[in-house]
Amino acid sequence: MQITKVHEFAKAIIMEAGERIRSSFSEKWKIETKADANDLVTNIDRETELFFIEKITAFDPSHKILGEEGMGEKIHSLDGVVWIIDPIDGTMNFIRQHRNFAISIGVYINGVGKLGYIYDVMRDQLYFAEEGHGAFMNEIPLKPLEAISLDKAIIGLNATWVTPNKKIEHLPMIELVRTVRGTRSYGSAALEIVSVACGRMDAYISMRLSPWDVAGGVVIANEVGAIASNLKNEPINLLKQDTFIVANPTIHSEIINHYIQLKYDNQ
Ligand code: IPD
Ligand code: CA
Ligand code: CA
Repeated sequence: MQITKVHEFAKAIIMEAGERIRSSFSEKWKIETKADANDLVTNIDRETELFFIEKITAFDPSHKILGEEGMGEKIHSLDGVVWIIDPIDGTMNFIRQHRNFAISIGVYINGVGKLGYIYDVMRDQLYFAEEGHGAFMNEIPLKPLEAISLDKAIIGLNATWVTPNKKIEHLPMIELVRTVRGTRSYGSAALEIVSVACGRMDAYISMRLSPWDVAGGVVIANEVGAIASNLKNEPINLLKQDTFIVANPTIHSEIINHYIQLKYDNQ
């Protein structure tokens, strides 16, 4: 497979999809709920995923596609070429804020992340990386991450995890929030991961993400030296939901070892 050809193709369809999403603001969207009342999906999420599936299948029918909205096939292994797609990451922001959402795509070959894309649709910023060739934002190289101490770090964290909850001991999390310089929560895992890759944040922690939330972002994060893992410090498994952390390498283990106490083992 010629990776350059796939890259040129991926970039073109992402830009076209972004244009379609921006145009959709003049239409009336159909908004539905999925797993719970706060899990939203629109016809634009579904149409964008379908757009990618049709384009990729026409480009090379042997490529497999794992998409959030389930419009591709069921994937049970990462053998071969697999596109992992979140057509709109941050749907709640898309609906309510009309900004702060992204298209997220990772292209994996036999389980290895080769190409990663996160397109911040409203800012028209395409973050991209090819394994071993660095990461870019609109063709501008991203710099390797510099060392940072935890007391100077900004971390991405949902406020839920510093309140009593079923998944994680909240008292160490309060300690973490007191230790760091600041916290942020943007509502799009993809944009939070690229914030770490750009050095605008130094870590991002989530208690449950799906493969499509992280597949594109981890390829980009790896290229600047960030470390991505689950909260047990195990490698990312792109076939299931799991806890997630991406962080500057100088604070990744420190956060996991000193502040993360998961309450149960079935993450
Ligand atoms: C969600 C966003 C959000 C994260 C959720 C994801 P969606 O993706 O990335 O920031 O906290 O866990 O499900 O549903 O908007 O594609
Ligand atoms: Ca998502
Ligand atoms: Ca989504």
